[in-house]
Amino acid sequence: MVTGKKLSSDPRHRLNTICPYYTMFPLEFPIRILNRTAKDTVVLDPFCGRGTTNYAARAKGIQSFGIDTSPIAVAIAKAKLATTSLEKVLALIERLLERAETCEVPKGEFWDWAYHPDTLDQICKLRTGLLKTKETDESVMLRALMLGCLHGPQQKDINNSSYFSNQMPRTFSSKPDYSVRYWKERDLKPLKIDIRGPLYKKASRVLNNRLNDISSTKNIFLGDSRHRATFKKLSKSVSLVITSPPYYGMTTYVQDQWLRHWFLGGSSEVNYERTPQVSHASANDFSTSLAQVWDNIYSVSQDQIKMVIRFGALASRSIDYDEILLDSLRKSIAPWKIYCRRKVELAEKGRRQAEHMGARVQSTPLQEMDYFIQLD
Ligand SMILES: C[S@@+](CC[C@H](N)C(=O)[O-])C[C@H]1O[C@@H](n2cnc3c(N)ncnc32)[C@H](O)[C@@H]1O
Repeated sequence: MVTGKKLSSDPRHRLNTICPYYTMFPLEFPIRILNRTAKDTVVLDPFCGRGTTNYAARAKGIQSFGIDTSPIAVAIAKAKLATTSLEKVLALIERLLERAETCEVPKGEFWDWAYHPDTLDQICKLRTGLLKTKETDESVMLRALMLGCLHGPQQKDINNSSYFSNQMPRTFSSKPDYSVRYWKERDLKPLKIDIRGPLYKKASRVLNNRLNDISSTKNIFLGDSRHRATFKKLSKSVSLVITSPPYYGMTTYVQDQWLRHWFLGGSSEVNYERTPQVSHASANDFSTSLAQVWDNIYSVSQDQIKMVIRFGALASRSIDYDEILLDSLRKSIAPWKIYCRRKVELAEKGRRQAEHMGARVQSTPLQEMDYFIQLD
């Protein structure tokens, strides 16, 4: 059996690491399921996040669709299905940097400390250029590369930088006040980084493998999976769902990524308004929201539909996540039946890491279960 460690460090799968995302599941989870799946299967992830399921399906030559309410998730997931080359992406970077058009540069203490002014100027040129450019596979790839390089730990050797920012975490955007305090206390100044350096480094890593074009970037939708209208965009009936709904209590997917959200056209300040989410108001509301999603899946599914769901909760939350999932299946109009369920191995959980201003620390432990479901 191929272990998870080997898969995640396999150079052929580097595209899957283009940009980190919260509570992503490891690539080996969907790959293990798809290893036993027929090639004419149509896969859907209605909470696709950064598109791990979609990437795994592509790697296996299987068509897939993805839906997410977070624009950041959608931007990253689309890149997993883009077909382009290093040369095309590099040419687009130069075209956008050379464009003389005016671009809006955010002002304020956070921005003064987060990026060197020349670096910020380049970032803003690419931001404006990408927002004005018609979406192509090159622009989708470049956008995700930018999201991946936008913030992270500073390298000692400026010529070997992987990120544009002053010292920051990779996986989430630290809040402005906290960040400025952190930099001031340590007298950490932003380095003058030519964004071409980190971009070239990342692009040459992730675009090292010719992947099939079985699915296109248009298979990923920005939308709410509770709404039937979102599913009308799917051009095929679905036969397999591999997904991981938001874990109960996790609602800050967009605020925690506010800097990446800014790059995609959002505000240059943290916006605390909630993006559409499954309802976390109570366990009952949550299971009702999930039931709406299962109903919608049923409406676009083939008779032999199967669902594999990884679900859990933060260990700190005293919540019976198992009961929430069972309740959501009972509330659905479809006759779902769980034919197998098992706890996610500790080995998989142990690899989860969070970062705190660049320092790696163990993340809040999750309790998780995999559910294998079919129609009765
Ligand atoms: C646990 S994460 C999925 C991570 C994904 N498996 C990966 O590997 O990246 C759950 C995702 O559900 C999304 N989400 C929450 N409510 C949603 C809704 N109503 N419709 C679609 N997506 C939603 C969140 O934005 C988040 O990206």
